[in-house]
Amino acid sequence: MKVAVIGAGTMGSGIAQVAAQAGHTTYLFDTRKEAVDKAVAGLTKTFDRLVEKGKLSAEEAKATLARIVPATDLKELAGCGLVIEAIIEDLGVKKRLVAELETILPHEAVLATNTSSLSVTAIAGACATPERVIGLHFFNPAPLLPLVEVVPGLATDGTLATRMATLMQAWGKAPVVCKDTPGFIVNRVARPFYGEAIRIFEEGIADMPTIDAAMKGVGFRMGPFELMDLIGNDINFTVTRTVWEAFFYDPRYKPSFTQQRQVESGRLGRKSGRGYYSYVDGASEPVIPVDPALAAAIVERILAMLINEAADALFWQVASAADIDRAMTKGVNYPKGLLAWADELGAKHWLNVLLVLQARYGEDRYRPSPLLLEATLKGNSLR
Ligand SMILES: NC(=O)c1ccc[n+]([C@@H]2O[C@H](COP(=O)([O-])OP(=O)(O)OC[C@H]3O[C@@H](n4cnc5c(N)ncnc54)[C@H](O)[C@@H]3O)[C@@H](O)[C@H]2O)c1
Repeated sequence: MKVAVIGAGTMGSGIAQVAAQAGHTTYLFDTRKEAVDKAVAGLTKTFDRLVEKGKLSAEEAKATLARIVPATDLKELAGCGLVIEAIIEDLGVKKRLVAELETILPHEAVLATNTSSLSVTAIAGACATPERVIGLHFFNPAPLLPLVEVVPGLATDGTLATRMATLMQAWGKAPVVCKDTPGFIVNRVARPFYGEAIRIFEEGIADMPTIDAAMKGVGFRMGPFELMDLIGNDINFTVTRTVWEAFFYDPRYKPSFTQQRQVESGRLGRKSGRGYYSYVDGASEPVIPVDPALAAAIVERILAMLINEAADALFWQVASAADIDRAMTKGVNYPKGLLAWADELGAKHWLNVLLVLQARYGEDRYRPSPLLLEATLKGNSLR
């Protein structure tokens, strides 16, 4: 099967690499020819490095690179069985693209979107054949992070998610199937990692290096502030705001002024030389001793919110318990799945943490998921 990737930016070039390494002839198209040229040059360097490191033979690298075919016109994609779009995150532009693709590709070809925050159903709504449209949400960097969220829209053919999950497995990926709901699994469940850390900072309970150190102390590879600086505060703020709006302004996802001010001041993170931390003289890795009791309190509060979000995603049937846990470990490198983590102390413990926060702040933000209440009453696991 021939594959096409549309949009040759960060995600598109990574996805094209994955598809070509899986053996597909992979067309790469972008409205800006220079983006395709840049992607091909970047991929050439990547394959050179893989050869240097002994991960690929020189012949394999050459053959894989030869499978990546720059396209200059969408019509060249007519023979493809799967097209994955990774263009700008704009509903109108994506809708126009899939509607045009529909007129070029054979009826059985699958149209996949790598959207992070738009509704797959809304994108498919532009097509006369929405049954062949599906979300395939890769994570950055796509060649390295195994997770792919497979997201059928409302009108997607009932067998397509399984077929795409099987294909993603053949590509060496870890697929999870999830409902077309805001943020899918990862971008929804991970919100409190950032949002609650910011609240703890805003209240003056701890400074940023302390919060980061506390979370790293329980196995997270990066603290929330370091990670926001890496992702880019503009991108992280947009995701937070999009998820909050898409949930009809549910207070649980409310963005913070702290993050908004970072964006307004251009402190976007590593890419702008300054975010929550300064990167002007090289990256600063805050390593500081942390009072164990304070660290435990920080971890408990952030973890309670993360577990609550994972439990709520399960309650609302966004995905299976196994897939929710797999998504967080395979997509954002969490040290453990959150539902498995919850079992270590039991639902009652986490419910109590949330009830104390809810009583203290009187905010719906801390409302426990019905699943957490139910598991506590029945003495059940959340899984
Ligand atoms: N960057 C991430 O971490 C990440 C992770 C997962 C998903 N996504 C999603 O992947 C998509 C792409 O993100 P990115 O970070 O790679 O963006 P990017 O800006 O790096 O690349 C987008 C590319 O699309 C091209 N483009 C724009 N409109 C086009 C059109 N109509 N036809 C063809 N090409 C067009 C642009 O020229 C650009 O080269 C978005 O939907 C984003 O939400 C991004």
